[in-house]
Amino acid sequence: MAPDNALDALLHENRRFPPPAELAAAANAQPDIYDRAAKDRLQLWEEMARRLDWDQPWDQVLDWQLPYAKWFVGGKLNASVNCLDRHVAAGRGGKVAFHWVGDGERDHRDLTYAELHREVCKAANALTELGVKAGDRVAIYMPMIPETVVAMLACARIGAPHTVVFCGFSAEALRGRILDCDCQVVITVDGQYRRGAPTPVKAAVDEALLECPNVRHTLVVRRTGGDVDWDAGRDVWWHDVVDGQSDQHQAEAFDAEHPLYIMYTSGTTARPKGILHTTGGYLTHVSATHHYVFDLKPDTDVYWCAADIGWVTGHSYIVYGPLANGATSLMYEGTPHPGDKDRWWKLIDRYKVSILYTAPTTIRTLMKWGAQELEPYDLSTLRVLGSVGEPINPEAWVWYHTYVGGGRCPVVDTWWQTETGGIMITPLPGVTTAKPGAAMRPFPGVSADVVDNEGKSVPNGSGGLLVLTEPWPGMLRGIWGDDERYRQTYWSRFPDAYFAGDGAKRDEDGDLWLLGRVDDVMNVSGHRISTTEIEHALVGHPSVAEAAVVGASDPTTGQAIVAFVTVRGSVAEDEAGGEQLVESLRNHVASTIGPIAKPRQIMITPDLPKTRSGKIMRRLLRDIAENRELGDVTTLLDPTVTEMIRDRMTLGAED
Ligand code: WT7
Repeated sequence: MAPDNALDALLHENRRFPPPAELAAAANAQPDIYDRAAKDRLQLWEEMARRLDWDQPWDQVLDWQLPYAKWFVGGKLNASVNCLDRHVAAGRGGKVAFHWVGDGERDHRDLTYAELHREVCKAANALTELGVKAGDRVAIYMPMIPETVVAMLACARIGAPHTVVFCGFSAEALRGRILDCDCQVVITVDGQYRRGAPTPVKAAVDEALLECPNVRHTLVVRRTGGDVDWDAGRDVWWHDVVDGQSDQHQAEAFDAEHPLYIMYTSGTTARPKGILHTTGGYLTHVSATHHYVFDLKPDTDVYWCAADIGWVTGHSYIVYGPLANGATSLMYEGTPHPGDKDRWWKLIDRYKVSILYTAPTTIRTLMKWGAQELEPYDLSTLRVLGSVGEPINPEAWVWYHTYVGGGRCPVVDTWWQTETGGIMITPLPGVTTAKPGAAMRPFPGVSADVVDNEGKSVPNGSGGLLVLTEPWPGMLRGIWGDDERYRQTYWSRFPDAYFAGDGAKRDEDGDLWLLGRVDDVMNVSGHRISTTEIEHALVGHPSVAEAAVVGASDPTTGQAIVAFVTVRGSVAEDEAGGEQLVESLRNHVASTIGPIAKPRQIMITPDLPKTRSGKIMRRLLRDIAENRELGDVTTLLDPTVTEMIRDRMTLGAED
């Protein structure tokens, strides 16, 4: 990109961005919200909970037995009713819930709240007919199409927790999740569109189910019309069992703590964790944060969260938060790609998008393609811009603010995790004077701190580890089937605080800056990927003896996966043999975990650098992968190993 002097100046002045006066005056969040939280945070959360419809009010706001929280104890509600029925009943049935646009704009469809409600009722009736009862787990392996939302809300409606598995995960990864939470029904599609081309999806489900004896049915949406294998005893078409159902469904109210969904996420071991979310607290948290952080005005805004529903961002900020608030959303099936550089700007123009929520990696990609791509389009409807998934570098922040937001839109950098359910640290668009790159302050009602290794709060101007010091409504209620791991992972590092796994800095003004993971978890394009999980996949390949994986910094994807492997026996020493092996290893990782986990680079090396006690020196490998001068290698068993690895860095490099 050509040097941009105006941007440079903005960056170097260390500029602050106060909220625009007009927005601030009418903003959902006013400055006193922080005082109200400080005075009585539980009362504020209760106020936020009252934005929902409850069939039975709670008798206790919070029951906290560290590390187990129950919120809105005794309350009863139905999440699907809160997302649909109440809007229809209030006369807003004709309002668009989703402007859905297919990959490459091959097709599009507008769904009103009334239509979505009818579809969900039909699907709920169909699931009941297939024998799904409250408490049963249902896996959803689907792309970004309206039926995915319908399937989730139908599950919620009948109290069957869903587990949505991102369509980019492999058959093996899908199987692991189905088995871990013992799903008996899987909802999927024949295929999906990716960059204009149809690709099979059901084939992966068939493969996964070869070893899932408890799955009774798969419910298959016809999306591409591609050929599929059919198991007549197990598979049913969505159009056969859903379309003919009654569009009425009397929903039952469930306990506030009834499980709503399980979302798997990578941890520091090879096995993903099933993060459990429940109903009342979660819905309160996501609807309130969606209302205040994006300043949503349901009657006039068009909101676009460009995440995939297969991740928590899609659950909280495409489905549950926006629908609970009666928002009109744009839902886009495609992802930005070089053949289609102006698609995003075209969509914002066409649908008059006013709130955009996306990840820094996307912003950097769009930035790389250049501001001239925006010029032909009218982006003047935009008024709030959000960022999530990884630290946003000030350059990307300022570009987003200047070019996408035309200098007038607040940028909210929102920190949270699969485990937190909803946004935890964020500016408020009408209140906060923002600093590019800082997530600023805990959301009102949330308590966070930055501590040193001993758990002591650090003074302003210092860095440390991020902890959450009080329970919050959207917090995970545990790891599915593994209480011990729940305690170990989040509650053992410090005695009375939740350990997030992120490094953070509190600046001189007391504002928070998130610095990235401090554990073996990588963040690649905003996707959370475990180094251990990839190492595990690599050593599962017959040619691999040992593997070490590190996240190297990457200008576009934030981090990139770099693997170092030693091989069993001998591999053809010539370059072609090495290249073949590297390719086969990359494919092996893709088929074990999914294409998102494919290493950018795999180094085949005769040995791995280890300490005298046999620990792999990851820090050193990261230095090598990032081409830095090596630090102290005196504790290294064989310093020549690093030299050998470095010599080979040029081999096996992938684009
Ligand atoms: C990890 C959680 C939150 C939904 C998407 C990712 C990183 C997330 C930010 C941010 C700096 C961020 C953290 C966190 N992260 N948002 N605004 N600034 N880092 O959810 O897959 O559970 O990943 O993403 O490292 O721990 P996730």
